[in-house]
Amino acid sequence: MILRDISTLHDKLVHEMTTNADKIIVALDVPTKRQALNLVEQLRDPISFFKIGLQLYTAEGPEIVRAVLSTGAKVWLDLKLYDIPNTVARAVESASHIGVHMLTIHLSGASEMIRAATAARANNMMILGVTVLTSATEKTLREIGIADKVDNQVLRLANLGVGAGIDGIVASPHEVKMLRAEFGDKIKIAVQGIRPTWAAPDDQKRFMTPRQAIQAGADYIGIGRPITSHPNPREAVTKILEELV
Ligand code: C5P
Repeated sequence: MILRDISTLHDKLVHEMTTNADKIIVALDVPTKRQALNLVEQLRDPISFFKIGLQLYTAEGPEIVRAVLSTGAKVWLDLKLYDIPNTVARAVESASHIGVHMLTIHLSGASEMIRAATAARANNMMILGVTVLTSATEKTLREIGIADKVDNQVLRLANLGVGAGIDGIVASPHEVKMLRAEFGDKIKIAVQGIRPTWAAPDDQKRFMTPRQAIQAGADYIGIGRPITSHPNPREAVTKILEELV
């Protein structure tokens, strides 16, 4: 009887850790294909989703995206597109054809650009919108002629995006609750600026732990340096998963 209880508990724990692992996206913020693939190889089990951003994509191009996809993992291509509607639409098509699962665009491009992007997506690729970068402050908004508070601008852009058919929003952990309250389960929310309890903040100032972010309602949590700069990245992932159970 006790053995059966332990085995049920073990199965439940494994299931929970696998479900939580699916929510973690590891940011491959490294300069070369070799370093990126080395990380993917170490983390591929249990991690099944990786983010490729401007640094790695500019250095290695679509080849690195294909290489990560060929391991069976999913890719979030974080290019934060912002251009005239036609150019963005063509880039969205290209990303869809490579087979990436998630792509980011800037919602400041406004509804015509956003609609061009959502109309051009294919292969079930999700388009996530970036509202106000977390590096921006009210002072930054004033510089570009926006007189509103950051939170109001985040909501304004998020509404523009959702109205134009995006699948989700990239948010700071502190915006998750507000966005969930506004949109319910209609959208996916991916957060970054995450620090496990044991990790150094680096340059992150307003971070949350993975558990807090998930409790606040995030669907995906993007984590970089706490995993990728750890002497043993695999161990860092295990520690994060243990923290989440
Ligand atoms: O700080 P860390 O290495 O975990 O960052 C992981 C990714 O999240 C990076 O690609 C970074 O650009 C992005 N990001 C962030 N902080 C935000 C928003 C995005 O670090 N507030």
